[in-house]
Amino acid sequence: MSGRILITGANGQLGTVLSHELTKKHGIEKVVVSDINPQTNTPFIFEKVNVCESCELNAVIVKYQITQIYHLAAILSADGESDPLRSWKVNVEGWLNVLEAARKHNIQKLFFPSTIGVFGPLSAKVDTPNNSFLDPLTVYGVSKSACELWSNYYAMKYGLDIRSIRYPGVMSYQSIPEGVTTDYAVEMFYYAIKEKPYICYLEKNTRLPMIYIDDAIRATLEIMDVPIEKINVKSSYNISGLSFDPEMITAELRAHIPNFQIRYQPDFRQQIAAQWPISIDDSQARKDWGWKPKYCLDEIVALMIEGFRSAFNEK
Ligand SMILES: NC(=O)c1ccc[n+]([C@@H]2O[C@H](COP(=O)([O-])OP(=O)(O)OC[C@H]3O[C@@H](n4cnc5c(N)ncnc54)[C@H](O)[C@@H]3O)[C@@H](O)[C@H]2O)c1
Repeated sequence: MSGRILITGANGQLGTVLSHELTKKHGIEKVVVSDINPQTNTPFIFEKVNVCESCELNAVIVKYQITQIYHLAAILSADGESDPLRSWKVNVEGWLNVLEAARKHNIQKLFFPSTIGVFGPLSAKVDTPNNSFLDPLTVYGVSKSACELWSNYYAMKYGLDIRSIRYPGVMSYQSIPEGVTTDYAVEMFYYAIKEKPYICYLEKNTRLPMIYIDDAIRATLEIMDVPIEKINVKSSYNISGLSFDPEMITAELRAHIPNFQIRYQPDFRQQIAAQWPISIDDSQARKDWGWKPKYCLDEIVALMIEGFRSAFNEK
């Protein structure tokens, strides 16, 4: 690979894991990791970059001869609602700064993470198709669907090579996510292992599309590797992992930790979740670039417990 890869927003749930996978694949000297917040004791080449400041972005692109960008920086669904205009600025203006920089510096390939949050109450609720109507009611969904349209525009008008996935809620043990409507499916493991009762902010039968981190990262690497001719969707691809509700995952968790206690106290996040699909149709991604998830619920629960336990033992 000529040039280097830049990851924006790399300190978060996905960036933490993607940084390791990309450095493993291409070599540590080929990946520049960045975020608005610093990283302490990082093994990576790290630069502090606020994606809302195009001069910071452009300077890093020139300094490291960047040829690919994975743009993860964003304000997510639950956090977004507390300051909608800031969310719009970071999510949409941040992406436009990346697109403009890509055009100016002839960036070869871009990755944009979208979300199932682009769907709203009028979208099909079950097996939501890729080309479903987008009517999000959160600023997160509004901003991500606008970004999808901008991706399509830059691909058509300027020929940029942009690949994008609509992630479902991501489950990982490498960090405790914050500000995401699907956080509960990670937080509950932390409480279960610490033998503490967990108060769930969703109703017990709120079924949502989810995906295990290894599947999410593999999808990201796979879509970036396929020949451009296979990318027929320039806005974003649905991908599916699995679909479950808090009761279903609690039952699976209790197979390992029988005394786990959960209570339900729905808050504003229940309203966000209620607008989202129950399950996702990812047949377009399967057909175009061979996407297929690997992990099912019992495997994920076992891996999450093992991952959290070894992380706690290392501390
Ligand atoms: N985690 C999920 O379940 C999920 C689901 C769907 C889509 N996504 C998308 O995947 C991407 C990564 O998600 P994540 O879970 O790692 O998010 P995260 O919130 O864990 O991390 C986002 C990172 O962006 C950084 N950031 C915020 N504002 C910034 C700015 N102005 N400039 C630079 N960095 C900034 C934050 O410091 C943070 O480290 C996001 O675009 C998100 O919308 C995530």
